[in-house]
Amino acid sequence: DNAEELHRQELLKVMDLASRLFHHLLTQTEHGEAARRYLNERGLQLETIEEFQIGYAPDSYHFLHPFLKRRGFAEGLLLEAGLVAEREGVRGRPSYFDRFRGRVMFPIHDSQGRVVAFGGRVLGEGRPKYLNSPETTLFHKGKFLFNLHRARKTIRKDQQTILFEGYMDVIAAWQAGLRSGVATLGTALTESQARVLKRNAEETVLCYDSDSAGQSATERGMEVLKQEGCIVKVARMPEGMDPDDYIRKYGAEAFSSKVISQASPFTAFKLESLKKGFDLKDEDERMRYLTRAVEVISGLPKAIERDHYLRRLSEEFRISLDALKQEQRTASSKKR
Ligand code: UTP
Ligand code: MN
Ligand code: MN
Ligand code: MN
Ligand code: MN
Repeated sequence: DNAEELHRQELLKVMDLASRLFHHLLTQTEHGEAARRYLNERGLQLETIEEFQIGYAPDSYHFLHPFLKRRGFAEGLLLEAGLVAEREGVRGRPSYFDRFRGRVMFPIHDSQGRVVAFGGRVLGEGRPKYLNSPETTLFHKGKFLFNLHRARKTIRKDQQTILFEGYMDVIAAWQAGLRSGVATLGTALTESQARVLKRNAEETVLCYDSDSAGQSATERGMEVLKQEGCIVKVARMPEGMDPDDYIRKYGAEAFSSKVISQASPFTAFKLESLKKGFDLKDEDERMRYLTRAVEVISGLPKAIERDHYLRRLSEEFRISLDALKQEQRTASSKKR
């Protein structure tokens, strides 16, 4: 209704104003000096800082709050927006303070390009590394993909989305000329996000960090995407790197041609991961791998895909296709 709509408008207004203030502080003032140096050391160009409207929240408890108060915003709204926090002050009266302090601020936009939340990164070490806005009427983490409003055009044209874990991965890729990157915001990929991805492009390339957290997020994420009907590919990088590290070390060209273009299709990736758990030089283990691999293949929804991967197994291990098909019938009857 009307009151609700007015409230949304107020929230949007305050997020926009905060975003513009943070950006101004970063780019035009002394407050932003250390943050400018930090971003520069991380290889971000001025043009990229402008494109993403990156900002800086000064390391003070009372910077944003008095600024917004002077502009006439009510405390309740600032609390709800997650820009301000409260604690008990003198005589039990609440006292208010800035929630984001000493952080590089990444604005998060909705599909219409309006700022609805922030991710704030500490300069250097410190916890939490990223502080994110709370959920509000404008912002539901599990429904958002960072950078979608900017990347959408390219995603639709390429019919491919590159899905990253972090803000900096998206931004580094963008700066390197790869404009179809989006990221989940520090949470597991949800069905709702997978639906959004599917709606915009046929194919999603999962490009998460190459550490154990990224690995398990990949294993979950690829199933969620497949379930929504996406064509899923999985990109891989050298152990311990994330896409931002990779692009900085090896450059954009290597990232495109060695990481994105070489991404493995869903099933090939599953079989490769499965393989790592077996010592294939050992005959018994080889047989156990084959049994498990056939189970994976028999779970595929399409007959053509099942046939294709069974043939590959048959060639790779010199086992007759007949035997593998028989094994598959056992596997699918066990499932029922
Ligand atoms: P990472 O720990 O991989 O961070 O978390 P990163 O993106 O590589 O960050 P840099 O390069 O050190 O700056 C991946 C994503 O998870 C979320 C953020 O969205 C981050 O980009 N995250 C991470 C949080 O929300 N909070 C945290 O404390 C850490
Ligand atoms: Mn500017
Ligand atoms: Mn990580
Ligand atoms: Mn990372
Ligand atoms: Mn990183």
